[in-house]
Amino acid sequence: MAIPLDRLPPMVNLSSGPFSGPSLELPGPAVFRVRGGTPLRGTVELSGAKNSALKLMAASLLCEGTLELSAVPAIADVPVMADILRGLGVEVDLDMAANTCRLTAADPQWHAPQDAVTRIRASVSCLGPLVGRVGRARLALPGGDKIGARGIELHLRGLEAMGATIIDRPGEVEVVASHLHGAMITLDFPSVGATENLVMAAVLADGTTVIDNAAREPEIQDLCRMLEAMGAHIDGIGGPTLEIHGVERLHPISWATCPDRIEAGTYAMAAALTGGDVLIERVRPSDLTMPLIKLRAAGVLVEEGGNSLRIKADGLDAVNVVTLPYPGFPTDLQPQMMVLLSQAQGTSRCTENVFESRFSFVEQIARMGADVQIDGHHALIRGPVKLHGAHLQGLDVRAGAAGAMAGLVATGETFVHDVHHVDRGYAGFVPRLQALGADIERLPLASVDG
Ligand code: UD1
Repeated sequence: MAIPLDRLPPMVNLSSGPFSGPSLELPGPAVFRVRGGTPLRGTVELSGAKNSALKLMAASLLCEGTLELSAVPAIADVPVMADILRGLGVEVDLDMAANTCRLTAADPQWHAPQDAVTRIRASVSCLGPLVGRVGRARLALPGGDKIGARGIELHLRGLEAMGATIIDRPGEVEVVASHLHGAMITLDFPSVGATENLVMAAVLADGTTVIDNAAREPEIQDLCRMLEAMGAHIDGIGGPTLEIHGVERLHPISWATCPDRIEAGTYAMAAALTGGDVLIERVRPSDLTMPLIKLRAAGVLVEEGGNSLRIKADGLDAVNVVTLPYPGFPTDLQPQMMVLLSQAQGTSRCTENVFESRFSFVEQIARMGADVQIDGHHALIRGPVKLHGAHLQGLDVRAGAAGAMAGLVATGETFVHDVHHVDRGYAGFVPRLQALGADIERLPLASVDG
């Protein structure tokens, strides 16, 4: 029987055999139906971070023994990454029910299977570790969310500085380096992917690599800390300059993925948007400093515990938000924040600096009646405006989640299509919202008109 991904975490063990599809046993195209009007109340516990787990999995390429990961989120991108790694010769034992993944890269191959690679952006994270360990890598150019051009020239320029040769092929990139050496690399932009790739290439290189203007996201810190525990020498973790002293080999360890701050931010904003009262557990509030500053400025009560956050709201005020690399406001929370601001009193301004196409989501909430005016990479949001139900497209992971959030405060029924995108980044999105009292269901597309 086909099992909706939303119900997977506690119910099904998917550890047997390789996954061939993008997303476990999804029962075909699905839609979220949301009926608004209920404030969210209760407790939600978070998964491990998508953007950390995928890179931790790629880091298994760097050592011979078995890397044991826990708190691996039950999201669709994880089995896709497992498939990519299997294609590279890594033995992967993924147990989505237990949230664990054991990876053994005894003798990795340098050429990844095209199909899986083009499906997720994180596949590019195999480049650095492969070149570092095997001296060669060829990957199809990566896929993932359609939220901008998303080039990889910063990754490639950094690898070149370390002695690699880049061979450009149509739709593919090949990197060859018989010998990687330390280098001084200054990134034009603190790219998350480039920083991670270069760190993973540098840990086994000869000598010292300095990455200046490095990205500082908590998921990068998680990766660097895991590499350190495996025997790497990395100075400056969490800062803008990373100094990596190459070592001969890394050893396998057990590591727990850090909590997903974007998932936390999404549930926090959903709670505030609906005038609810929600306790979020297994969260690191310090990873969310800027979003929490903005929620407080919007009039939301935020109580920080050691590993928890309580979010309570009764009315929202307008605030301005500017997306920037960490510790700035995350672009991955921008669509959710726009929905929240559509219900805030006054005019808010939102500036998107990371992904040029991320405002494509605005057209979706405009269909529901939101008053948003776009001028280049700035948006003016006037609120509060009563939203009405509509058919929305979940254009990417975050836009899909934000569309469902809009449905939580709309009159009538909202249908969010293309929810496979949400499955890529949120474990148990529907049951978790249902547990908070939301009227949301996952339905087969065929059962929905429109
Ligand atoms: C990662 C996250 C994504 C998040 C983003 C920014 C993963 C799997 N994804 O994506 O969820 O939204 O960080 O926080 O971890 N760029 C270039 N050339 C490059 C590298 C980047 O032009 O060589 C541009 C990209 O097109 C994009 C911007 O820089 O506009 C940000 O990219 P980057 O920080 O690298 O993000 P990703 O690693 O793709």
